[in-house]
Amino acid sequence: MKTIVLYSSRTGNTKKVAQAVAGALPAGTPCLPVAEAPSDIEAYDLVFLGYWVDRGTANAEAKQFLEGLRPHHVALFATLGADPKSAHAQQSLDEGARILPEGTDVVGTFICQGAVDPKIIEMMYKQFPAGHPHGRTPERDARHAEAAKHPDEADLKEAAEFAAAVLQRLEGGGQ
Ligand SMILES: Cc1cc2nc3c(=O)[nH]c(=O)nc-3n(C[C@H](O)[C@H](O)[C@H](O)COP(=O)(O)O)c2cc1C
Repeated sequence: MKTIVLYSSRTGNTKKVAQAVAGALPAGTPCLPVAEAPSDIEAYDLVFLGYWVDRGTANAEAKQFLEGLRPHHVALFATLGADPKSAHAQQSLDEGARILPEGTDVVGTFICQGAVDPKIIEMMYKQFPAGHPHGRTPERDARHAEAAKHPDEADLKEAAEFAAAVLQRLEGGGQ
C-alpha cells in the first residue's frame, strides 16, 4: 500500500504528530509539509493528512489541499487548543472530512491537543475584554496551560497507534 503523510503546521505541533504517524508506518514512508506534496499524489493509495484547527475547521493551507484531493483512502489527524474529547474537537474533525470531495473514503481520524501560540493568546485577550464570550477567564487560562503541555509522549504514542491501526485495517492484517 503506497502511503504518504502530509501535514500543515504553523508552530510545529501537527508536524510532531505527523512524524509520530510516519514512524509507525513502513520505513521510507514520506512525511512532508503539504506545500511539498508530490505532483503524483494520485499514485498513493493512502494519504494521512494533518492540519491544525483554525476556527473550528482545517487551516486554510490544509483545506485547499483537501479540496483538490481526488478520491483516495484518507486518514485525517489534527491538533487543537481545546479539549480533544470536546464536541468542538469532534466537529473540527467532521469539518475537515466535509471538505473532501464526495466519494473519498475517510479511513480514520485522530485529534490531540497542541500548545496555542502565546502571541495569539495575548492578541485574543487584548481583542476580547474580560466578560466577552472569548475573553479571559480562569477556565480559558487553565485550558491554555494544559494545551501548552501537548502534544506529549502519550499523544504521540496514540498517534502512532492510530496510524498502525489504519494501515492494518486497510491491508486486512490481523484477521
Ligand atoms: C488563528 C488560530 C485559530 C485557532 N483556532 C482554534 C480553534 O478554533 N479551536 C481550537 O481548539 N484551537 C484553535 N487554535 C489552536 C491551534 O489549533 C493549536 O494550537 C494547534 O496545535 C497549532 O498547531 P501547529 O503547531 O501545528 O500550528 C487556533 C490557533 C490559531 C493560531
